[in-house]
Amino acid sequence: MNQFTEFTTRTELDSALAITITNLLSEAIKQKGKASIAVSGGSTPKGLFSILSKSEIDWSKVTITLADERWVELDSKDSNTRLVHENLLQNNASAAKFFHLKQGDVLSSETLTDLNLAANNSLLPLDVLILGMGEDGHTASLFPCSEQIVEGLDETNSDVLLSVEPKTAPHQRITFSFASLSASENVFLHLCGDNKQTVLRKALNGDDKFEMPIRAFLHHPSLQTQIYWAP
Ligand code: 6PG
Repeated sequence: MNQFTEFTTRTELDSALAITITNLLSEAIKQKGKASIAVSGGSTPKGLFSILSKSEIDWSKVTITLADERWVELDSKDSNTRLVHENLLQNNASAAKFFHLKQGDVLSSETLTDLNLAANNSLLPLDVLILGMGEDGHTASLFPCSEQIVEGLDETNSDVLLSVEPKTAPHQRITFSFASLSASENVFLHLCGDNKQTVLRKALNGDDKFEMPIRAFLHHPSLQTQIYWAP
């Protein structure tokens, strides 16, 4: 069962989500001595990152990664890594480790194999996953239009990271698979704006996950996605 929480403003949402994440990461550190979180890129999470970066967490025990990354130079305005460096890996959170998805110039099968191994060894399953959603129903870089969508949504896929070439969005991408993301302890979907609520409603009212990949999370029988929405 998903949970839907509506906020009056984006700042209220960001503050509430930052507190929830702080509690979950602190609890994971208490239990296991370490914690991991994957965040999404795009425009929605910037305010959340700024609040979260000031949270009182033992950040030295936290590994942060991205649910997906665009294969662009790290100084590109489209780089999610840059977004995280400039907004989340600041203040208290500058002590956190960052698991880089963009490694080297070419996204080769060797790079993917190395990253798959490293992610399995140091990161997964994630304690916290913050997803975003595009207006076509994509999440992470699991795009409905891409040739890799069947592999990306395959629950039995043992490759935790895959290369994706979206047809309706710029840049080659690297993304965690649905199988690896859905193993996360706590899954959040962070949405802002009326358009996103319309898209969410459409996703909840249909069941073809290849048409709208976010449905794989929203309709999974044993997953509970916590949806945070503000206008
Ligand atoms: C990316 C993402 C992607 C994003 C959605 C929402 O790198 O593009 O991680 O899945 O979360 O496209 O993006 P906005 O927040 O910009 O609407």
